[in-house]
Amino acid sequence: MGLPKFKYYYLHREWFFPNHIDIALENIKDFHKRFYPKSDLSISLYAGLLHDAGLVYKRTESDSTGHENRSSEYVRYLLPKFGLSINFINSVCIAIESTDSNSMPTNEESFLVRNADAYSHLISIHFFAKSYFAEDIETFIDWFTKKIESTFNKLTIPDLITEVTPMIESYRRMINLYNKNKSRSSVFNNSL
Ligand SMILES: [Fe+2]
Repeated sequence: MGLPKFKYYYLHREWFFPNHIDIALENIKDFHKRFYPKSDLSISLYAGLLHDAGLVYKRTESDSTGHENRSSEYVRYLLPKFGLSINFINSVCIAIESTDSNSMPTNEESFLVRNADAYSHLISIHFFAKSYFAEDIETFIDWFTKKIESTFNKLTIPDLITEVTPMIESYRRMINLYNKNKSRSSVFNNSL
């Protein structure tokens, strides 16, 4: 892909599974019990497991846009090998595509997976670790500013929104403080 090495590291399974996928799967099991007990847990778990496969599968650019569609493409390639029905595979793909900010969920499994994915990002070290995987701090803060809003907006379950709102407000305050202060001269500048 011609990307610098640090750009790849967050996609290594040793990092990505414990810091995102495993958490998303735990969330799916938890939210299934708490919020969507009548939804199909198997569909949601397959979707949770494979929803970010497109961050690697057929990726040709640094920009990850469209990875949800590539994840679905991978699911349609992989799951028939395990004898799963086309209806089941279609449902997994629908749930995966609902993790895209621009696709509103249309069924309970989609709502479940979308919330589990977004919540995983907000409760884990994932976003902070991205600063290490970014080119520089300005690039990271620009990315983080947009990402906390788009991730927060993906949540649809009122209990989760209430829980994370103070954290989101705190992030916004931190970013505002940084932006306010970054252009100021340091008080030490004159004495150096
Ligand atoms: Fe994800």
